[in-house]
Amino acid sequence: MNMTKTRLHLATVLGLSLLLGACAIGERSRNLADPAVPAAMLAEQVCSICHGVDGNPVSPTFPRLAGQSAAYLSGELQAFRSHQRSDRAARDYMWGISRTLNDATIGALADYYARQVPARARSVAGVSVSTGEQLFHHGDPEHGIPACAGCHGERGQGSAVFPRIAGQQDGYLRQQMRQIRLGSRAAPSMQAVVARMDDAQIDALADFLAVQP
Ligand code: HEC
Ligand code: HEC
Repeated sequence: MNMTKTRLHLATVLGLSLLLGACAIGERSRNLADPAVPAAMLAEQVCSICHGVDGNPVSPTFPRLAGQSAAYLSGELQAFRSHQRSDRAARDYMWGISRTLNDATIGALADYYARQVPARARSVAGVSVSTGEQLFHHGDPEHGIPACAGCHGERGQGSAVFPRIAGQQDGYLRQQMRQIRLGSRAAPSMQAVVARMDDAQIDALADFLAVQP
């Protein structure tokens, strides 16, 4: 990428940040609420700043959206909008944006990301995933923890109701399991699972899941 392009790109990002700032204080929220704004354009120009152009983010703290189920994605966008997801990152990053989206735009964005191809999981040399793998397939019956595969699928691929967790970003996975355990993210069936998990089990699962295809 040459300098001119870099400058242009920075200018675009800055411009969009200003636009988002304006939206956050409610001045120009109509721009994003307009269903005529194609979802793909919104995804590429706004959401991509954090989630990557095709829903495959670079930073491990931002969730991967590519290949996630459409029903799950629209449910979560609604949960941000209604403040049912209320952990710190949800408030800081997703409350403002989701408030500007109407149901039609949410549906179109969810379809867009469900159609994107999840990037190949990165492999982490030296990290042992056997504890996580064991928990994923068999749970921990002694502590009443069910197998994740029972709901999230044999390969963690998810379904309409259950999110894909295979290949999700490790930092994000860790964070969500903790937030659900704390109750700052309302997810009743999942909360019953994490309530019995300790931090070491959460870490082992995040390490295992992040490298699954
Ligand atoms: C400034 C960064 C940023 C931008 C821009 C952004 N997001 Fe997010 N998004 C996040 C963060 C951080 C989270 C995780 C929130 C949490 O921890 O609860 C998230 C979570 C999500 C989730 C939940 C994923 C899951 O697996 O549960 C969806 C869906 C989502 N964003 C969609 C979007 C869409 C659509 C847009 C554009 C309209 C967008 N985001 C723009 C930062 C961003
Ligand atoms: C009884 C069914 C069930 C079982 C078993 C289960 N989950 Fe879940 N899980 C869910 C549901 C439902 C959600 C979505 C919650 C929501 O709508 O916000 C979820 C959400 C998650 C999320 C958040 C995903 C995201 O994109 O934000 C993670 C991470 C997760 N589960 C990991 C696990 C792990 C690891 C296990 C095994 C220890 C497990 N789950 C077992 C039902 C289950």
